[in-house]
Amino acid sequence: MALRDIREIGEECLTKKCKEVKEMTDRLRILIGDMIDTMHEAEGVGLAAPQVGILRRIVVIDVSEEGNEPIVLINPEIIEKRGEQTGPEGCLSVPGKTGMVTRAEYVKAKALDIDMNPIEVEGEGLLARAICHELDHLDGHLYTELVEGKLMTNEEFMEYLNANAKEGDSE
Ligand code: NI
Repeated sequence: MALRDIREIGEECLTKKCKEVKEMTDRLRILIGDMIDTMHEAEGVGLAAPQVGILRRIVVIDVSEEGNEPIVLINPEIIEKRGEQTGPEGCLSVPGKTGMVTRAEYVKAKALDIDMNPIEVEGEGLLARAICHELDHLDGHLYTELVEGKLMTNEEFMEYLNANAKEGDSE
């Protein structure tokens, strides 16, 4: 396993529609292992293949606290969505930035696992957000297109949180 370079906003590979995976190969297994390592090393909760420059419909997600429950989704598709959540979102390809994004509160997706067996994954909250965010990458979209208000630096985001906390206190 090896770490891969994470591509950043402005690079063309992040704007492309990715191709479906037709069969699992040794090369793709290595890629998926590397993606999981790269996601964990960068302390992200998800990573899509185009973020390491590979235009294939593969994402890895791990929203567990320990970072030891990676989910691999190949050719994923959202088949059910419910509700709404608005919250801060970031991306390993957009370092140092945060923005408020509204996503579904609940998502169910179908996909193939690493052995190309059909699976379904459902999630609420952070997992639902991660599934939506990662799947967007496969069609060349970044969360920055969906940000409500402005895309904030980490410092601005802290100020934003403090300001909102103060408003809350005065109520
Ligand atoms: Ni991302």
